[in-house]
Amino acid sequence: GWTMDAYRDIAIAKIREQVGDKQVICGLSGGVDSSVTAALLHEAIGDQLTCVFVDHGLLRLNEADDVMTMFRDNMNLKVIYADEKELFLGALEGQSDPETKRKIIGGLFIDVFQKYANKIEGAEFLAQGTLYPDVIESVSFSGGPSVTIKSHHNVGGLPEKMGLKLVEPLRELFKDEVRALGRELGLPASFIGRHPFPGPGLAIRCPGEITREKLDILRQADAVYIDQIRKHGLYHDIWQAFVAILPVRTVGVMGDGRTYDFACALRAVTSVDGMTADYYPFSHNFLGETATRIINEVAGINRVTYDITSKPPGTIEWE
Ligand code: XMP
Repeated sequence: GWTMDAYRDIAIAKIREQVGDKQVICGLSGGVDSSVTAALLHEAIGDQLTCVFVDHGLLRLNEADDVMTMFRDNMNLKVIYADEKELFLGALEGQSDPETKRKIIGGLFIDVFQKYANKIEGAEFLAQGTLYPDVIESVSFSGGPSVTIKSHHNVGGLPEKMGLKLVEPLRELFKDEVRALGRELGLPASFIGRHPFPGPGLAIRCPGEITREKLDILRQADAVYIDQIRKHGLYHDIWQAFVAILPVRTVGVMGDGRTYDFACALRAVTSVDGMTADYYPFSHNFLGETATRIINEVAGINRVTYDITSKPPGTIEWE
């Protein structure tokens, strides 16, 4: 494997050589990959880097605030906050097909990014946190034939369109190596240890049609679930955990009344790189306690299920 302090120095030298005195823009999602990319670029070229953080309205509870505080206030990076919630949620209204949803989000991301990037005087480069598994998975799946399982949202095609050159300093790395590099760069453990979060965000955890109501419920349920996982000391044993809100209401009883609310599914997996995964074997006690908390604390959910599908044959996300 790589020794990360050596990798860091080499990567920084490479970036400086590639970029020279030109301006670089970088899409910041708050995920580990783009965070490490931004931190590395910042270390290499300082103020020649401008990040754009797009809020598509599909983020988790408090996520936009957390990311902006961390990068703009704590780390002193130049970050533009792009509030495009209405644009994305408006465009997704009435859409329920997974690939259509992904394509809408991917397309708007490019438009929005381009809009903000155009405001950055003299930008010649675009930095992306592409990892080795991203390179592999877009070519083939599990060594099988070349098929697209899911259209990954990224800014593919954008660099050419905008006349930008790509900077992809993580292209040779796996996730665990990216985390090691992040530690090397002094990113706080809370950021480095974060579970991956997909670019299309909560859209792909809200199978079927997305509504603001469902998103709000999903954000609340997800926060309770993650709180439970942290309280039980399980967060770092799990590669990724989240709630998916199901496109179905079910009948329940609460107090002396009938309820008719959404069902949700809890997902938690162990994995090395996201390409294969096993469901996490929570105790029955944990699952029961979590279900009770979600139903008591989150208005709009009255049934909780646990997803016990591994990858393959399932994927980690629901769409
Ligand atoms: P799947 O659902 O394909 O997910 O098993 C594997 C890993 O990739 C993440 N994922 C994405 N990440 N853009 C991203 O940046 C995407 O469009 C996307 N789709 C899935 C997913 O969260 C998991 O970690």
